[in-house]
This record gives sequence, C-alpha cells and structure tokens, in this order.
Amino acid sequence: MTASLARPPPSRLREEVAQGLALPLVLAPMFLVTSVEMMLASMASGAVAAMPTLNARSPDIWDEWAGRLAAEHATLGRRVPWAANLVVHGSNPRLAADLAVCVRHRVPWVITALGNPRAVVETVHGYGGLVFADVNTPQLARKAAGAGVDGLVLICAGAGGHTGPMTPTAFVAAVREFFDGPLIVGGGLVDGNGIRAVQAMGADLAYLGTRFIATRESAAVDAYKRMVVDSDFTDIICTNAFTGAWANKLRPSLVAAGLDPDKLVARDRFDLNRPEEEVKAWKDLWSAGHGVGSVHEIETVAEVVETLGREYVQCLARLDQDPWAARWRAAAIAAQAEQASNT
Ligand SMILES: Cc1cc2nc3c(=O)[nH]c(=O)nc-3n(C[C@H](O)[C@H](O)[C@H](O)COP(=O)(O)O)c2cc1C
Repeated sequence: MTASLARPPPSRLREEVAQGLALPLVLAPMFLVTSVEMMLASMASGAVAAMPTLNARSPDIWDEWAGRLAAEHATLGRRVPWAANLVVHGSNPRLAADLAVCVRHRVPWVITALGNPRAVVETVHGYGGLVFADVNTPQLARKAAGAGVDGLVLICAGAGGHTGPMTPTAFVAAVREFFDGPLIVGGGLVDGNGIRAVQAMGADLAYLGTRFIATRESAAVDAYKRMVVDSDFTDIICTNAFTGAWANKLRPSLVAAGLDPDKLVARDRFDLNRPEEEVKAWKDLWSAGHGVGSVHEIETVAEVVETLGREYVQCLARLDQDPWAARWRAAAIAAQAEQASNT
C-alpha cells in the first residue's frame, strides 16, 4: 500500500486540521518577515504559523529553528500544528536539505510554493506530516490535488507577496467541484468577518499575512512596519516587474528605492534563477496586500490574534441574529413539520 492510500478520508482531514486551534487561522509564511518569535507567539495563541525555510540563511540554521519550534510544540498543552514553507521550484538548491530538516523534526505541516508538490508528498507522508500546496488558479489546484496533497492553499486576488488573479468566492467554488479536502484561503483577509466568510464559502482556514507584518515579533524592519501602518489600498501596486510573477508591493517602498512605480518594466517569464535580485525585490521593495489599510498600529501577535478572535465571535453572534437566519430556520422547521404530517 502506498503512503497516500493510507491517508485519512478528506472529511476526517478537514476535522483534523482544525483540531486544537483557538481560531481557524494560519499566519501565512512571509519571506524575510516571519520570525521564530512570531511562530512561537502564534502557537501560544492557538493559531497555526508557517515559516519559509529560506528565512534561515542556511539549512543548519533552519535545523536549529525547527528544533526550537518542535520542542515548544511538544510542551504545549494544546496541539497547535506549525508549518514549514518550502519553495519546490527546480531553482531552489536547498530543497533536499531543507526537506531533510522537516523529516528530522517531523514538521507537522509542509506548505509548498512555486512548483509541483509531488516531490515532497511521499517524504512528508512518510513521517505522518500533512502537505498543503499553495496555488493561485483552479488549474494548478487540480494538478496539486492529483499529486496527492492533503490540502490546498488558495491564494486569491489582493494577497500580499505573490498574488492570485481570482476572487475567493469564485476560486473556492471552482475547487470544491473536484476537491473535498482541507482548503485554506488567503488574500486580503484582515479581520474576524473575513475569517468567518472563508468558512461560509466552504473552506476551512483563513491565511493572513499582511495583518501580521507590523507585529512586534515580526522580522520586518521598523520603517517597513511604519509604512504598513501608514498605508492604505491606494499605496498598493500589483506588478510582475520583479520576478515575473504578479506581486502586490507598497508603492512608497519602490519610490524610496529610487524606482518610478509608474514606469516599471513587465517581465513576461517567471524566473527564480536570480537569487540576489529575488532577495533585493523583497528586502528593499516591501510587500503588502489589499488589506493594508486595516492595520493601524504595531501590536504583538497575541494582541492581533485576540482582536481577530473577538471580531470572529461578534460576527458569529451577528449572523445568528440575522433576520435571514431566523426566516430560513422557520422555513426549515415548517418543512419538517409538513413532512412529518405527511408520513
Ligand atoms: C512580505 C511578504 C512575504 C511573503 N513571502 C512568502 C513566502 O516566502 N512564501 C509564500 O508561500 N508566500 C509568501 N507570501 C504570501 C503569504 O504567504 C500569503 O499568501 C499572503 O500574505 C496572504 O495575503 P494577505 O497578505 O492579503 O493576508 C508573502 C507575503 C508577504 C506580504
């Protein structure tokens, strides 16, 4: 029997991914922004967090970080998973070494980015981990599902960093036609209403990046955090000028780097083979998504998660009081009563 044949059924996996969480929330992986401290604070707050392995300057440093995170995970009373974010594109020379670290520390979830997840599925399943593939079109989602991943991360329009072209409503509906496993949705989500909305669409967890850039624990430099606090949607530019993939960037950071945001030269081909340029594109040209205008201060991860939790509960209460809910509940009760009287 192959490892993938031994996987739990999709409905069981959907329950499993939500178990132990205080909120259906994943702190999305952010290159040069996610720190070990953010990961620890997120785990302690009951939310999953994901670390891009490339944030560690070498596989040895990644090994040290993963060891710390695994040790903390083992001491937590509540089983909150944590995740590694692996670039599976052929141009990543660290893929094998970073994956070996995931195996050594049995990283609970691996989220693949920028390529076919097939290369890691069997290895991660081999130690009982779950694999999620980050995708931004239904075509890529179908391909990843065919590669045997446990879940999908749907990156939608408005996301910080590399973004997607689709609205979440259309994307989730399209993917639910062929995939009934766990779905995580990201792009422009900034509050508890958005987290609940993702579930209403038929997905399981919300993936938030921009909302956490300006946290105290984040590795973003202070000027970047301040820019996030001071910016709104009008400061966001979507461009493929840097890696060839569409990404949402903060205009003021482009200006500060001496570029004219209105005169960027489009790149027609996705190209990750220029690592120095890639780092520069993230180090000096800062990224944020459509939700940036909802970040008003620099807070701790725990404070942001607490706010999101409060908003989520308020949203549940509001929906429960909604006249539409009462109307449809009454209609369902009446239909049941009629059926009972007819039998
Ligand atoms: C600064 C920054 C860096 C990012 N780096 C990565 C990365 O290394 N790997 C990845 O898969 N996604 C990366 N992303 C995308 C996020 O994981 C996530 O998809 C996105 O933040 C969700 O949209 P939101 O920012 O509107 O919440 C990055 C996003 C930002 C803002």
